[in-house]
Amino acid sequence: MKPDLVLIGAGRMGSALAAGWIASGRPADSFFAVDPRPGPAAARLREAGVRIEKTLSAEDAAGVKTVLLAVKPQIMDEAAAAVARLLPADAMLVSILAGKTLDRLKEAFGDRPYVRSMPNTPAAVGKGYTVYVASGGAPRERVEEARSLLAAGGDTAELENEGQMDAVTAVSGSGPAYFFLLAEALAAAGRAEGLPEDLAADLARATLIGSGALLESSTETPGRLREGVTSPGGTTAAALDVLTKEPGLPALMRRAVAAAAGRSRELRG
Ligand SMILES: NC(=O)c1ccc[n+]([C@@H]2O[C@H](COP(=O)([O-])OP(=O)(O)OC[C@H]3O[C@@H](n4cnc5c(N)ncnc54)[C@H](OP(=O)(O)O)[C@@H]3O)[C@@H](O)[C@H]2O)c1
Repeated sequence: MKPDLVLIGAGRMGSALAAGWIASGRPADSFFAVDPRPGPAAARLREAGVRIEKTLSAEDAAGVKTVLLAVKPQIMDEAAAAVARLLPADAMLVSILAGKTLDRLKEAFGDRPYVRSMPNTPAAVGKGYTVYVASGGAPRERVEEARSLLAAGGDTAELENEGQMDAVTAVSGSGPAYFFLLAEALAAAGRAEGLPEDLAADLARATLIGSGALLESSTETPGRLREGVTSPGGTTAAALDVLTKEPGLPALMRRAVAAAAGRSRELRG
């Protein structure tokens, strides 16, 4: 049977999602990928049995029902020029391109059903969170199909209002970097308190991972879990006093997320 799903752009994010499809039972020959310069991520997909093409042939394109578009945003028009005219008019396009609006996708790839999404890098280990929004008139069963493709990377949520995508980008899209920075800063502070470099780095890393695992396995809110480890007058309380004193981490986070959302609005198009 001819594959009816194509991944365009087998880089880090696209290949991670495709690896998730295979891990969740989708046969490796039920889709193929197009990438003019296949790199290491594409090589791993090929090893898993996925066919990788340098260009989309008219013959392959004719059977396509769904496209997962995963090229860099600045390459979108180039990718569209190579494939849009070959794709059947009812083929749905699912984009993971940061900042590319449903209108811009339609401008580049023509009139068809669209799902615009924003995954994050933990999708590479199935622990991501992908938020998506569908174009008006996209059939619900097609949107559900897009959701299930994106779910290979972890949790999903649908937006009604595309305008909220900038805030989503600022929270979950860019968010992993905030936690990595926190681990770096905690390690540096541990070194400053006299710990050897390796131990400080290990402690910071393990504490971030362990706290995430606790949060995952608990039904409590992060606020409750924080309270649970903060005895009045204790060591944690001393640190939290510093972290929450004006301007404090909550206000800094508010500014950071506003800056990311603002940048996302500037890059929109
Ligand atoms: N990484 C993230 O955290 C993240 C989060 C959310 C969304 N995204 C979105 O995911 C998308 C991909 O990001 P990435 O980090 O996976 O980038 P990437 O690793 O650079 O992957 C893009 C792939 O597309 C290939 N490509 C270039 N031109 C092409 C064409 N005309 N047709 C088909 N493939 C082509 C690239 O090849 P070359 O490298 O040779 O150009 C590369 O293999 C971006 O649009 C980004 O906004 C990423």
